[in-house]
Amino acid sequence: MDRGETKFQVLLKKSVVENIRIEHPVILKGQYEKAYNLLRDSLDAGITPCLVGPPGVGKSLLARKVAEDTGRVFFEIFFDENVTPSRLVGAFDPALVVRKGRSIESFEPGPLIRAMVEGGLFVAHELNRATEFCQNSLISPLEERHYHIYPLGLIKAHESFAFVATQNPIETAGTYRLSRVLMDRIGCWIRLSYPSKETEIEIMRVNAPASDLPDSALEKIYEIINDTRNNPSLEVPASPRAGIFLTRLVNNNLDDFKGEDEAIRFFAPAVLSKEMRVREEGKTVESIINEILDRRLGSVN
Ligand SMILES: Nc1ncnc2c1ncn2[C@@H]1O[C@H](COP(=O)(O)OP(=O)(O)O)[C@@H](O)[C@H]1O
Ligand SMILES: [Mg+2]
Repeated sequence: MDRGETKFQVLLKKSVVENIRIEHPVILKGQYEKAYNLLRDSLDAGITPCLVGPPGVGKSLLARKVAEDTGRVFFEIFFDENVTPSRLVGAFDPALVVRKGRSIESFEPGPLIRAMVEGGLFVAHELNRATEFCQNSLISPLEERHYHIYPLGLIKAHESFAFVATQNPIETAGTYRLSRVLMDRIGCWIRLSYPSKETEIEIMRVNAPASDLPDSALEKIYEIINDTRNNPSLEVPASPRAGIFLTRLVNNNLDDFKGEDEAIRFFAPAVLSKEMRVREEGKTVESIINEILDRRLGSVN
């Protein structure tokens, strides 16, 4: 430890990494194989793709996988009404401007400019939630592959720079809409929905490290998750991410229970109640979850 360095600073130094690697296998079967190929093909053809699908179906993971497989550094931004163009593009640091003026030395780049300059893959999550100002900032990087920063001049994108958007279909009717101009620049719409049973079970397994759960437990978890998707009382069903969380909890703590059913029954309400929104009056998340658990695991009295 250097003199004067705090314990936190030492740890922070060790924690700085170039890029986060994907830590588990990526299942590229069924819809994922198709989506992955479309994603790569559109980027190769210089066409901007948009991944459309409900939360937790694997949009981010696919984009990250393509970045890794094509040797690009990964950048991302999660749009909402509070994200400003300067957060996206970058801004001059006032303290440095005092000494160096508005110059390259005083410019703090945002993720979009970093991806352009470094030839990375930039992911614009929830693009439909970007404000009009942010949407406008994206037009010239997509159309002309450059961005004008006053007074630096025109910043030209590296030839490897690639842009991927993601969007949640439930939200397309929401407050912000994609402007016609931006919409026209997105040339490939890749739709993902909930995966098939076999694929989702495989996803649950690879995401629960050292999973030694029997197939019967994974099937039950899948059926419970899938029931929330076919239940008209629920507005927001459980995502594959919820299935992964439930699998991990059951897998890690199985020994504390009499069997997999008891473990699933214990953890399912805690994992599922966060995700769901009830549409029908007089019903609660708990009552719906209990109905599903009784159906899949048999009722306990
Ligand atoms: N095809 C897949 N193979 C392996 N894991 C997956 C796959 N699809 C999704 N996952 C896992 O599911 C979770 C949610 O995926 P994510 O990409 O974050 O979803 P989204 O961006 O659509 O909300 C993550 O833990 C991810 O690793
Ligand atoms: Mg995501």
